[in-house]
Amino acid sequence: MKVKKAAKWEEKSSLVIILKDTEHINNFHLEEKIVQYVIQKGKDKLNFFEFNLLDRMVFVLISKEENQNKRLEELRKHGHTISKRLNAFKYENVQITCTAEISKELLLAVAEGIGLSSYQFLKYFRDQKERKNSLKEMILVSHDIQKRDCDDLDIIIESVCLARDWVNEPVSFLTAEQFSKELKNAAKDSGFTIEVLQKKKIEELKMGGLLAVNKGSIDPPTFNILEHKPAKAINKKPIVLVGKGVVYDTGGLSLKPTANSMDEMKCDMAGGAAVGATLHAIAKLKLPIHVIGLIPATDNRPGGNAYAPGDVLKMYNGATVEVKNTDAEGRLILADALTYAQQYKPQLVIDFATLTGAAVRAIGTQAVVAMGTSDEQTMQDIVASGFETHERVVVMPFWDEYAEELKSDVADISNLGGPYAGQITAGKFLEFFTKNAEGEHAYPYVHIDIAGPAFMPSEDSYRGKWGTGVGVRLMINYLKKLA
Ligand code: BES
Ligand code: ZN
Ligand code: ZN
Repeated sequence: MKVKKAAKWEEKSSLVIILKDTEHINNFHLEEKIVQYVIQKGKDKLNFFEFNLLDRMVFVLISKEENQNKRLEELRKHGHTISKRLNAFKYENVQITCTAEISKELLLAVAEGIGLSSYQFLKYFRDQKERKNSLKEMILVSHDIQKRDCDDLDIIIESVCLARDWVNEPVSFLTAEQFSKELKNAAKDSGFTIEVLQKKKIEELKMGGLLAVNKGSIDPPTFNILEHKPAKAINKKPIVLVGKGVVYDTGGLSLKPTANSMDEMKCDMAGGAAVGATLHAIAKLKLPIHVIGLIPATDNRPGGNAYAPGDVLKMYNGATVEVKNTDAEGRLILADALTYAQQYKPQLVIDFATLTGAAVRAIGTQAVVAMGTSDEQTMQDIVASGFETHERVVVMPFWDEYAEELKSDVADISNLGGPYAGQITAGKFLEFFTKNAEGEHAYPYVHIDIAGPAFMPSEDSYRGKWGTGVGVRLMINYLKKLA
């Protein structure tokens, strides 16, 4: 989607008008009948109008909501409706404008909704060309919109869609090695640097978690190290983002019961996709902040040599893990990445992972869950970014009692907690690997379980159907504010 600005809107192409007050509809050279209609129905509290004028469409949005975040979300959703209509009638561009009382954030929210809704995953159709959405261009018309706003929005939309593409790719295409190739392409396109550790190197490093999960697979694992290090970074110590890159999760020998729980498991690298797409975005946005991305990648399968319940693994940090369930694989590969992160002496580490069904059961698809050892302010800032982007974040308790469930009779820690609060015990398992040899936290840490909203089986407004790209807008927002 191209996003441009213009000084004036033109009468000949489609137009979205955002107003605070219906009376202001007078300023847009519309037919008197339409003006009267909007004013009349506006009194009945109608706040979305659509007029198909045959050679163009006109949409009128009345935005009165007082709560700014709710307001932004309402407008993104209107953007979704607008995108559907414009594409249904094969329009190629749309202008978006507003009156002076409407801030540019609101206008950008509509545009964001339209842009994100225009996403399609068509790669595997023969007749892609016929299926492709018509809408190609948004023209933003407002006195306070800068070129920079247009470019930034374009980058955000592009990066979210990149994450969605990766999530939507089946494992028949997106193996761990292919995922690394995709990340390399994203690096080339945006300017971050990347180093991919291959199986041999992973073996030399003794990343026992990643290697164990990979044992049942025919395809080798990869460990991806992404870096955005601008010359004028505001931070001395980097922020490290870690993403779960399980390109397919069968559960391994602790096989998932097929009909229900395996169908969507190509989405199990959504955390890795969020990290890769975030690096892509911040490199393109040229944010002056030093960020490193770590993405351990493999599929998790039963196989002749698959790791088994009862196995004891030696992890990258030297600790041993008793495997009680091979379906709790995400935490094993993340553990090695969290140990790897220690060498950077990071200011903060945040991981993104489709880690537990328990997170989905706890809060559904409406939010991600977060927990960690960072200071209160950091967590609050992330939660605030969640409200601003509507990628909402619910903070879980992270009390040490939860870790007691991870005690093992044969190893330093078990990969399985008790029957309750599985999202928290999973987090506690990860926290173990954020500690150094002395048992002290090596860095402040936030764990974000995105299993709920990562993948939607049916269309959910501008989040779309299937991979949503959740985490990308959240992180861009958060890092932008830090920078
Ligand atoms: N990838 C799954 C978690 C998941 C569930 C992601 C639903 C997306 C949607 C993870 O690897 C897993 O299998 N977790 C198990 C852990 C359990 C064995 C402790 C789970 O949550 O059931
Ligand atoms: Zn699993
Ligand atoms: Zn998994």
